[in-house]
Amino acid sequence: METVLTYIDKNRERFLSELFDFIRIPSVSAKTDNGETMQKCALFVRQALLNAGADTAQVLQTNGWPVVYAEKIIDPAKPTVLVYGHYDVQPAEPLELWTTPPFEPEIRDGKIFARGADDDKGQLFMHVKAFEYMVSEGLLPCNVKFIVEGEEEIGSASLEAFCKENAALLKADVILVSDTSMISLASPTLTTGLRGLAYFEVELSGQNRDLHSGLFGGAVLNPCNVLCGVIDKLIDENGRITIPGFYDSVQEVSAEERKQLNSVDFNEKAFFKGIGLENGRGETGYTTIERIGIRPTLDVNGIWGGYTDEGAKTVLPAKAFAKISTRLVPHQTPEQISAKLKSYMQKLIPEGFSVKVEYLHGGTPYVLPFDSKEMEAAVMAMEKSFGKKPLPVRSGGSIPVISVFEKVLGIKAVLMGFGLESDAIHAPDENYPLENFFKGIETIPWFYHFYVK
Ligand code: BES
Ligand code: MN
Ligand code: MN
Repeated sequence: METVLTYIDKNRERFLSELFDFIRIPSVSAKTDNGETMQKCALFVRQALLNAGADTAQVLQTNGWPVVYAEKIIDPAKPTVLVYGHYDVQPAEPLELWTTPPFEPEIRDGKIFARGADDDKGQLFMHVKAFEYMVSEGLLPCNVKFIVEGEEEIGSASLEAFCKENAALLKADVILVSDTSMISLASPTLTTGLRGLAYFEVELSGQNRDLHSGLFGGAVLNPCNVLCGVIDKLIDENGRITIPGFYDSVQEVSAEERKQLNSVDFNEKAFFKGIGLENGRGETGYTTIERIGIRPTLDVNGIWGGYTDEGAKTVLPAKAFAKISTRLVPHQTPEQISAKLKSYMQKLIPEGFSVKVEYLHGGTPYVLPFDSKEMEAAVMAMEKSFGKKPLPVRSGGSIPVISVFEKVLGIKAVLMGFGLESDAIHAPDENYPLENFFKGIETIPWFYHFYVK
């Protein structure tokens, strides 16, 4: 694998121009009328994998957006690495906050600016190019399979059924994923866990119609006011979630692991400064790193009701709504939390009111211990390319399909991500430093090398 840097050097411009073609396809999975574009993007990935050296590559239909599957089998007796990534992206709105249009990639200050530049087109493409390198130089040490989905950003709802139906096709020894971040290129880290997720829409109803706020105001409760009060009760002054039994199955992390998690080179001041704050707030008794990595949370993602258009309207609305998400840690499950939130909400609402709590999507938390044998290959690979041993971090984000792979296929995933906090994923001006993109391509072949050895 020593020749990887020379190969990158020779092909730099081509790698970028191909990635830019990938990014230009606006594969926003949340838009339900985006079928043609999603199919086009899946076909692009299929062709990129064929060009890179896959024996076969197909676009497979699911109940949702299509999945791309490709493979190169060099010897059935050798191990198989299954690479996972997603070709779908988050909506780019609000468009007016972008410096340049989201689907017209541009390089500024050594970074690629575009929706998907990091999450996950840039990171996925590192794998396509690392694979191309190994194939073209005759260095591929094992079998490789790719599964690239188009529904990650909307919860991967079709993936469980897809994995069950295609379990034989997806058979592998390890899953390799670049869809997470690291502290910095100077202080590389590997992700040992992802939080789970349970996402809900809440509809609170009071009187049977909207009312004149003068004629009725003061005589009845206002659903918007009531919903705010209910939400306020969900978290106490110590930052603890008040849903009865919410913490029942939360695994306490050992003092030793907590110490290790806090030993990474995390600049807390800069972290908050970067988002315009002096400092953070959260659950008493835990550091910022712990609050994000090993503790569960509850957040309102959106709240609405009544009149929100231009000017003033004197109305007392019949209903109020909110989108509420919880991030989960081992061994919480979306099913458990869903049942607990639903019954607590029923208890919190005033007499005469009704509440509907609809579960939209979610996923189970995931962990892979730092001393596991799958992780070891990633540690060695990063040590090789960074000249420094990576440290473990637990990510606060979620990738729902990762625990599905574990449950349905019985395969562990290594989360070797090359993104940075400052990449602004999901936000305007998402970006991915060129350095990280090329460092990823350099590191990935070493993972194969050490995994097979
Ligand atoms: N790649 C991210 C998750 C991520 C980012 C993990 C950075 C760790 C570090 C993924 O695409 C994502 O955004 N996941 C969603 C899942 C949801 C939409 C079901 C999330 O975490 O909100
Ligand atoms: Mn992602
Ligand atoms: Mn994402």
